Amino acid sequence: MSFGRVLILLGPPGAGKGTQAKRLAAAKGYSHVSTGDLLREAVAKGTELGRRAKAIMEAGELVPDEMVSKLVEDKFASGAPQDGLILDGYPRTRAQAEFLERLLQGLQPLAIGIEVDEEQIVERLSGRRSCPGCDRVFNIHTSPSQVVGHCDDCPDRELVQRPDDQEEVIRERMRVYRRSTAPLIDFYRERGQYRQADGSRTVEAVADQLASMVEAAAA
Ligand code: AP5
Repeated sequence: MSFGRVLILLGPPGAGKGTQAKRLAAAKGYSHVSTGDLLREAVAKGTELGRRAKAIMEAGELVPDEMVSKLVEDKFASGAPQDGLILDGYPRTRAQAEFLERLLQGLQPLAIGIEVDEEQIVERLSGRRSCPGCDRVFNIHTSPSQVVGHCDDCPDRELVQRPDDQEEVIRERMRVYRRSTAPLIDFYRERGQYRQADGSRTVEAVADQLASMVEAAAA
């Protein structure tokens, strides 16, 4: 398979897509685009898109395809990326996957699904805390900050919990994932572009598996 240096991280909420995307982007020098981060930024800035997306995100539902695809299209404004791109949380529906296929203009992406079971996800996400200053992500169970409730890098900042990381919203996000996003596994499998990673292991073990998959696909 020829791998056009576009990596799609699929997987349920809390599978570790963001954690792994940041590590891989730093290791390989790839760009990292997270539609969740772009939407949260729009919400924080109070843009029109952010105002429309806020309640949808807090309910754990998907923001309409055309709004999200526009954000991604803007990232492709100067042409399809040649030096490596990691898409984290996009595409999430078949319409988004088809839109991306057109944007890629023949570049072959590699989609990696990071699989983790639901109870582990609920524990991970209810323990996630992030720094509003530098966006560093901690977990009160698996990777706590040195001082409880405060960022290691910006000690003046108090860590916050995402509004959609409440248990009932996490379970709704899981339902949405199963209904709308999991079918993309077959979409990419049919094209010979899918690999599956075991996200239940340590962050380092998952990172090693992803790095091997990317190397193998690029060879
Ligand atoms: P988004 O921000 O993309 O949320 P998500 O996909 O639900 O993913 P998360 O960020 O919750 O989890 P993750 O897999 O990145 O895990 P992480 O590495 O942080 O989207 C939010 C919302 O925006 C959506 O619900 C939707 O409304 C909207 N949206 C976004 N994109 C959209 C799109 N394309 N279309 C429509 N709507 C869209 O890890 C989670 C926690 O686990 C952390 O605390 C971390 O430290 C810990 N952890 C990670 N890996 C491990 C490990 N191996 N072992 C132990 N702990 C781990």
